[in-house]
Amino acid sequence: MKRELLMMGPMYPVTLQELEETYVVHKLWLAADRDALLASLADRIDAVATSGTKGIDDATMGKLPKLKMISHFGVGVDSIDTDAAKRRGIMVSNTPDVLTDDVADLAIGLLIAVSRKLVVGDRYVREGKWQPKGPMPLAESVQGKTLGILGMGRIGRAIAKRGEAFNLEIAYQGPNRKTDVSWRYFADPVALAKECDYLVAACPGGESTRGLVSRAVLEALGPKGVVVNISRGTVIDEPAMVQLLQEGKLGGAGLDVFEHEPKVPEALFAMENVVLQPHVGSATHPTRKAMGQLQIDNLAAYFSGKPLVSRFC
Ligand code: 8YV
Repeated sequence: MKRELLMMGPMYPVTLQELEETYVVHKLWLAADRDALLASLADRIDAVATSGTKGIDDATMGKLPKLKMISHFGVGVDSIDTDAAKRRGIMVSNTPDVLTDDVADLAIGLLIAVSRKLVVGDRYVREGKWQPKGPMPLAESVQGKTLGILGMGRIGRAIAKRGEAFNLEIAYQGPNRKTDVSWRYFADPVALAKECDYLVAACPGGESTRGLVSRAVLEALGPKGVVVNISRGTVIDEPAMVQLLQEGKLGGAGLDVFEHEPKVPEALFAMENVVLQPHVGSATHPTRKAMGQLQIDNLAAYFSGKPLVSRFC
């Protein structure tokens, strides 16, 4: 007999199909009466599949007294109340490693796109300006600049590696100095920003990093500095960033994530020194497939009484 699984929100189709072949999948986001569905499943649901858009909160966990395992699609677990999960003895798995390279690629892509005006250049050609107007105004070179990375975890390290290939000097900030890397460490993000041309947020989201890229950090980065965010929108003081960009006190931004996504501050739309993406760091076919497989493997491990493949907590 198929085991039952509660799904919080829409899932990558390839993963959904496989989960539906294996389990009876209850789709909470489609329920006409959410509480009624939760109540009807309360005495038997022990595993939940979720992702960044829906996560799962303490109140929902409280309505599922048999819940023992949350399998998350994504590396960042900020949409899950992990403290509540720990308190309730619920295991959480996530999908690290498999997305590291794609996310790091996007960070470098954004950095280069802002500095070399790739999007502006593309528009210049498409809008037929090249022939009548001649060459486009010159851009900035990334060569020999300093790249500051907030968060030297898996993704931070992959960004640093790529940065070195582009002849960038690397420095980083995080809660702890890493003993296995030789890059310059700063405990204070303002001190790091003062030394940098580029500042990339690669730290986890959630309350511990909310507003880490504060107004003071952005001011320290300055009118020639570029901020890149592939982490979570909450990491940057977004209103301060928009204002500093408007006033020319911040040089540019490459943003894949936003505080209230999919809502994006409209003031950014007209800025040529800003490149915007709709949260696509891991959004490639092979990576999403691998993330889904890890989510599936964690569920299979749980249901067969084995240790989770990638347990977060
Ligand atoms: C996912 C992400 O798109 O893994 C993460 O933390 O931000 C992205 O790779 C998202 O979480 C999907 O739920």
